[in-house]
Order: sequence, then C-alpha cells, then structure tokens
Amino acid sequence: MPPAPGGKQRTLSIVKPDGVKKGVIGEVIRRFEKEGIRIAAMKMLHLTRRQAEGFYDVHRQRPFFASLTEFMSSGPIVVMVLEGDDVIARNRTIMGATDPKKADAGTLRAEFAGNIEQNIVHGSDAPETAATEIRYFFSDMEITS
Ligand code: CMP
Repeated sequence: MPPAPGGKQRTLSIVKPDGVKKGVIGEVIRRFEKEGIRIAAMKMLHLTRRQAEGFYDVHRQRPFFASLTEFMSSGPIVVMVLEGDDVIARNRTIMGATDPKKADAGTLRAEFAGNIEQNIVHGSDAPETAATEIRYFFSDMEITS
C-alpha cells in the first residue's frame, strides 16, 4: 500500500485489554463499519511483556513505559488492519485524543476510556508507523484484499 496521505490506506487498530474487559470489541468494530472502513485482518492475542515492549519500543525512554507495557500484557487484545480512504486520520478521529479528558464527545475514548494510559484503543499515527505496526502483528498472507 503506498504511504501517500489520503487515498486508500491501511492502519493498525488495537482494542486494548481494558476495552476487551469492558466488552466493547463489538462497539469498536461497529463504528469502523458504520464509517465504511473495511476490516482487512483481525485476531485476538495475549501479548507477553516482551512483545508489548517490542510494540511500544519508540516509547522505551518515557516514564510510563513500564506501566504501559504491563497494562498491554495484562489480558487479551484484538488487533485489526483497517483499510479505506484516509483511514489513518479517520481512525484517529473515531478514537478521540489520547487523554480521554481531552477527547471530543462521542469518540471511543471519551465514552469508554478510564485514563490516558488505559484508553481502550490504539491507532497508528502516520503511514510509516502504520506499515511497521501492521508488520509487527500480521504477515502478508493474513491480510485480505
Ligand atoms: P497509544 O495510542 O497506544 O500510544 C502510546 C500509549 O502510551 C498511549 O496510547 C497510552 O496508552 C500511553 N500513554 C501516552 N501518554 C501517556 C501518559 N502521559 N501516561 C501514561 N500513559 C500514556
């Protein structure tokens, strides 16, 4: 998939352990489908601490790294490849701001997230990170077209 902004893109979405525990997997998927976003791949995983650390490697120096990776390995997650026009930005609009206190009303994080760390969902922030994050969880054979 070309990393051009806009146009047809792919992005990685994760329903985090808090989202799975709160029973909002279906609600997250419903919002994507309602917006005409295609789910190109999906699976449920329970990350090891090491796997969570690998995924969030860019945040290794952040003060919240230990707590974040403990949280992300605390229970099952659902990882998805989303596909559609401008889907990286559209997914971020559906999610709302990282901090649920700053998230717009009606977004997933405003409605369901407990705090800035346990914020229900993850979404790639740019074409390059989307490509890296998708590759972390999915082989080409697992992504439908
Ligand atoms: P995510 O979109 O998955 O990207 C990085 C994650 O780090 C973020 O969501 C939050 O879960 C977490 N995070 C970001 N900022 C903070 C913070 N200030 N304190 C704790 N966790 C954070």
